[in-house]
Amino acid sequence: MEENKGKVCVTGGTGYIASWLIMRLLENGYAVNTTVRSNPENKKDVNFLTSLPGATQNLQIFKADLGNPESFDSAIQGCIGVFHVAATIDLEGKEIEEIVTKTSINATLGILRACQNSKTVKRVVYTSSVSAVASSGNKDDQVVDESFWSNIDFLRARNRLRDSYAISKTLTEKAALEFAEQNGIDVVTILPSLVVGPFICPKLAGSVHVALAMAFGNKDLNWYPLHAVHVEDLARACLFLFEHSNPKGRYICSSEFVTIERMYEFLSNNYPEFEVPTIDSLREFKGREKYDLSSKKLLDSGFRFKYGFDEMFDEAIQCCKEKGYL
Ligand SMILES: NC(=O)c1ccc[n+]([C@@H]2O[C@H](COP(=O)([O-])OP(=O)(O)OC[C@H]3O[C@@H](n4cnc5c(N)ncnc54)[C@H](OP(=O)(O)O)[C@@H]3O)[C@@H](O)[C@H]2O)c1
Repeated sequence: MEENKGKVCVTGGTGYIASWLIMRLLENGYAVNTTVRSNPENKKDVNFLTSLPGATQNLQIFKADLGNPESFDSAIQGCIGVFHVAATIDLEGKEIEEIVTKTSINATLGILRACQNSKTVKRVVYTSSVSAVASSGNKDDQVVDESFWSNIDFLRARNRLRDSYAISKTLTEKAALEFAEQNGIDVVTILPSLVVGPFICPKLAGSVHVALAMAFGNKDLNWYPLHAVHVEDLARACLFLFEHSNPKGRYICSSEFVTIERMYEFLSNNYPEFEVPTIDSLREFKGREKYDLSSKKLLDSGFRFKYGFDEMFDEAIQCCKEKGYL
C-alpha cells in the first residue's frame, strides 16, 4: 500500500471494471468513495468490496442511481477526482434507447455539476467505449482513432440489437466533453474495447462472457472479430490518465485484435475440454466489419500495455473456472 493520495469517487462499484479499479486505487494509496444502487429485494453482496485490502479504513459505500443524478452528490463531496464508470448496459435491446440515453446523459451531467460544486474535484475520468468511435457509417474507414465519432443517424437507421448501447455511449461522451468545455471542468474520456481478464465481482462479467462465447457454447459469435484490452491494463490506464500532468480529451484503450480463427486456435490448442465449433463451420462465419483501432494517443502520452492475448484469455478462463462459471 502506498501513502494517502487523497479521496476519489468511483461510480458503479459492483461492476466488473469499477470493482477492479477500486482494488487498484486502494492499493495505490487512494481512499475511495463508491456508489452502488439500492436493491431492497435482493440485498447486494458488497463483501467482495469491503474485504479488499485497505477497504476497512479507506473504502466508503454510498447509494446512488443514474435515474436520480443528485444521488451521487454525497459520494463526490470532498473527493479530488471522480471515475464515472456506472452505466446501464442493455445489449439485448430490452430497454428503450431514448430513455437509456437520456438517463445516462442526465446522470453524467449531474455528476459533473456535483464535481463543479464540490470545489475539490480536479479531474473526472469518464469511461466511454470504442462503440463511440467505431460506427461512423463509412465503410472506407481504415484506422479508427479519437477523431472519429459514431454516427447516430447511421446507428438509428441500422437499428441492430447493440446499437442502442453505442448511441447512448456516443451521446453521453459528447455531452460530457461539451459540458466540460463550457464549464471549465477537467474531463478525460477513456474508450476501452472489449474488456477481458479476471474479475473480482461475484457476477459473471458481461464482456468476459461475450469474448469467451465459444468456450461457453454460446452460438452468438457476432462480437467477432473484436478488439480487446486486459482489465488490469484498463485500470492502469484510468489511473495513468488521472495522474497525468496534462491529458486532453479522449483516449482509446485497446491492445489486441481477435479474429474468430485466432480464438478457435487458442481454445482448441489449450482448452480441449471446451466443445468449440468446427473450423469449417467457422470459415462460413462472416462476423462484424473489420477495422483497425488506434491507441497511439495513449501510447504517445507514455502509457504501455502490460498484458497480451494469452494473459487476457487464460486469466479470464481461470477466473470463470474458479467461480464455477465454466
Ligand atoms: N466491459 C467492457 O467490455 C466495456 C468496454 C467499453 C466500455 N465499457 C464501459 O465501462 C463501464 C463499466 O462496464 P462493466 O463492463 O464494468 O459493466 P458492469 O459490470 O455491468 O457494471 C456496470 C455498473 O453500472 C451500474 N449501473 C447500471 N445501471 C445503473 C443505474 N441505473 N444506476 C446506478 N448504477 C447503475 C451497475 O450496477 P448493478 O450492479 O446494480 O447492476 C454496475 O455496477 C460502462 O460505462 C461501460 O459502458 C465497458
